[in-house]
Amino acid sequence: MRTTLASPVRATTTQLRKLRIALFGFGVVGTGVWKVLHDQRAAFRKQFNAEIEVAGICVRDAEKPRLASAPQELITTQAEKLIDDDSIDVVIELIGGRYEAANLIERGLEGRKHVITANKLVLAHELPRLAAIAARHGVELRYSASVCGGVPVLEALDELRSRDTIRTISGIVNGSTNFILTMMSDSLTQREGTIASFDDAVAEARRRGFLEADASLDLSGADAAQKLSVLTHHAFGEHVRPNDILTEGIEQISSNDIRAALEDSHTIKLIATASRDPLSGKAKAAVRPQRVPLTHLFAHTRDEFNALEIEAQHAGPQVLYGKGAGSLPTASAVISDLVALLKEE
Ligand SMILES: NC(=O)c1ccc[n+]([C@@H]2O[C@H](COP(=O)([O-])OP(=O)(O)OC[C@H]3O[C@@H](n4cnc5c(N)ncnc54)[C@H](OP(=O)(O)O)[C@@H]3O)[C@@H](O)[C@H]2O)c1
Repeated sequence: MRTTLASPVRATTTQLRKLRIALFGFGVVGTGVWKVLHDQRAAFRKQFNAEIEVAGICVRDAEKPRLASAPQELITTQAEKLIDDDSIDVVIELIGGRYEAANLIERGLEGRKHVITANKLVLAHELPRLAAIAARHGVELRYSASVCGGVPVLEALDELRSRDTIRTISGIVNGSTNFILTMMSDSLTQREGTIASFDDAVAEARRRGFLEADASLDLSGADAAQKLSVLTHHAFGEHVRPNDILTEGIEQISSNDIRAALEDSHTIKLIATASRDPLSGKAKAAVRPQRVPLTHLFAHTRDEFNALEIEAQHAGPQVLYGKGAGSLPTASAVISDLVALLKEE
């Protein structure tokens, strides 16, 4: 699905390679990318002999206060001008939403630019089509940040699938709902007198930047289903659309449900699972809240952390664990895609 690097990263007269980036979106993840790029600048020069240059940052409102300070002359609201700029090597799409983002990704690929995105909504619906456009134009579409934030789950699935048969994947793939369930559960077990209701926990998750702009995407399980669609693509080579994933969210989970589970040495987690149906041979996938024994690894996956268990025929079970949401962990995954481009040159 990933194609070879077509346009060589530009070389300057001093032989320092230059990679020109168009950054679309300067919110939670976009500002994180800006900060990580800034921190890693010297390391990229040393490791890859490459200079990463942000050519423009496209936003909706150029006057809005930002979480990171970038030179004002880089900020633009003219998406069309930036996406069609022929000097751009890599488009990083971090605006979220579906149709405008899909259009940007498509236009970037058709303009023979590599595209990096964190947008699981678009990928869940259009991954095969966009991957085909990338292949047709000899550029790469990369999306490590779309699932499990900074944890390299897609890379692990690709590697394992190249040498084994993956039987099931299951895990906690939505950091914000896990944060909410953890906070509700802690308020019952730590007995500090602060009962975190569902609404309190949602407000705190929002304050920390864990929730999607449209929080119902997280709470309804839709975000987890979109991620499971991308994961299923890499685990089984089959694209399962979100509408074909049985999805139940956490909106109906009350403190009483969690209390009852705890009294029975369990807790409640939003679990995404996919496996191949032995009869039909087709991948089947579901997202729903489940009672998990307190001794299980998933019960110890707290706050915005994610965990994915992969069960393969020969390798047996393996688990990946780490921060699945937030500005810098997600930005780190975006940067890992940039590094992959630099390495492939
Ligand atoms: N937040 C996370 O922890 C996380 C984790 C994994 C993946 N993701 C994914 O990363 C992407 C970005 O998420 P985020 O949390 O960074 O979102 P965000 O904080 O809402 O930021 C979105 C940014 O995109 C800009 N934007 C929106 N529509 C635009 C348009 N039509 N043209 C130009 N700019 C536009 C906004 O501009 P203004 O600022 O001017 O409004 C804002 O800067 C989403 O696909 C999300 O699913 C997020």
